[in-house]
Amino acid sequence: MNIILLGPPGAGKGTLANKIIEKKDAVQIATGDIFRYNISNKTELGVKAKSYMDRGDLVPDELTIDLVWDAFDKHKDESKEGKIILFDGFPRNLDQAKALDQGMEERDQKIDHVVYFDVAEEVLIERIAGRRVCTNCGATYHVKNNPPTKEGICDRCGEELIQRDDDKEETVKNRIDVYKEHTAVLIDYFKEKGILFSIDGTNSPDKVFEEFLNKLGE
Ligand code: AP5
Repeated sequence: MNIILLGPPGAGKGTLANKIIEKKDAVQIATGDIFRYNISNKTELGVKAKSYMDRGDLVPDELTIDLVWDAFDKHKDESKEGKIILFDGFPRNLDQAKALDQGMEERDQKIDHVVYFDVAEEVLIERIAGRRVCTNCGATYHVKNNPPTKEGICDRCGEELIQRDDDKEETVKNRIDVYKEHTAVLIDYFKEKGILFSIDGTNSPDKVFEEFLNKLGE
């Protein structure tokens, strides 16, 4: 089963992905995490992506689309057998959405659901300011709303938690503007295909997960 998590920065896509992976047979393809991994390992892709990410702009499609297929193709057979593949942070504009449709068709697959996170802008800013992420496995926490059991340490793998470079206030503002300009159009794109459902992303992470399961019919 292939599911897109769609929503603005800080809406809770990564947090819901963590919960789904904990409780169900699922994997996540998170383009932001893939770029961050490449940046910290100073790969050619990481060097190219860094300046865009530091500004809060989208990394160009030619650096993004192929890496999604590389990741997806590792799981495409499991997806047919019912494993949940979560697209987190992709697609992020109309060209990426069309490339995803085309690639799915070539693989005789489809996107089953798009989960849209409805969250007000003030909430996004507060969440991003308090976000901490694991340097090793990418798990996400919030200093107040979703703290780890031991301060500064990841519950999942025991590594150190840090604040992301692009979580500075000016960059966050640009990321939200970029979302409005390029990504929000995908809400109607997927609504017209009849595969989008909204969830109230202002609820607690447990409630968001519960609503996700309900909407999925489970
Ligand atoms: P990416 O890493 O994808 O970031 P994003 O989409 O901006 O989303 P975030 O990770 O900020 O938020 P989230 O919705 O996952 O929220 P989270 O669960 O962490 O992209 C980063 C950059 O990479 C982009 O700017 C771009 O440059 C590049 N990029 C990535 N994909 C690309 C693509 N396809 N094309 C081109 N460029 C691309 O939650 C946020 C905080 O809130 C956390 O602290 C969390 O604990 C807390 N929280 C979450 N849910 C709740 C809740 N229900 N209640 C209370 N607190 C909550």
